[in-house]
Amino acid sequence: MTINRQRRQSAASAPGATPEAIIRINDAGHLGAEGPASLAGVVERGDARGRELGFPTANISVPHADIPDGVWAGTVQVEPATHGNTYLAAVSIGRRPTYYRKGLRLLEAHLLDFNANLYGLTVLVTLHVHVRAQRRFRDTEELVTQIRDDVNYVRSWAAEYQQ
Ligand SMILES: Cc1cc2nc3c(=O)[nH]c(=O)nc-3n(C[C@H](O)[C@H](O)[C@H](O)COP(=O)(O)O)c2cc1C
Repeated sequence: MTINRQRRQSAASAPGATPEAIIRINDAGHLGAEGPASLAGVVERGDARGRELGFPTANISVPHADIPDGVWAGTVQVEPATHGNTYLAAVSIGRRPTYYRKGLRLLEAHLLDFNANLYGLTVLVTLHVHVRAQRRFRDTEELVTQIRDDVNYVRSWAAEYQQ
């Protein structure tokens, strides 16, 4: 699924969704009344665990300390300079506490309905709705169950967003 237009969206109205918070961030990456926030970066190599979990991610570093950790309903545009396609994404920002005590802070975007290698390409990630905090899960199975719910949330949010 691709999305080519942007408009403001209230998470509270997304069907079946119970987001933890609705956070608006302006274009400079600061929390504020204006939203949503966009961050561009070159996709880096992850440790490939995402693919094993069934949820491969495009990873970029997060320079804005004031963007809160957590999981977001987002969109990702590939190569924005040449107006590449935009995809829905479940975006995780944080230190992956399930696997690391003090992991590197990363933005990881799982693009929905997309299966190609993005290493070295520039992506523009837009964070629309803060869905939940990053958590430490007991095991991989619990994390995968939660990510599946996150992806379902993003789809229901998008169904509303595209109307
Ligand atoms: C939608 C989504 C939600 C995530 N939520 C969490 C989380 O709450 N806690 C956590 O430890 N890791 C979370 N992760 C990160 C995964 O641990 C990570 O993607 C996985 O370990 C693969 O890492 P890799 O990209 O370095 O291979 C999430 C990832 C995604 C895509």
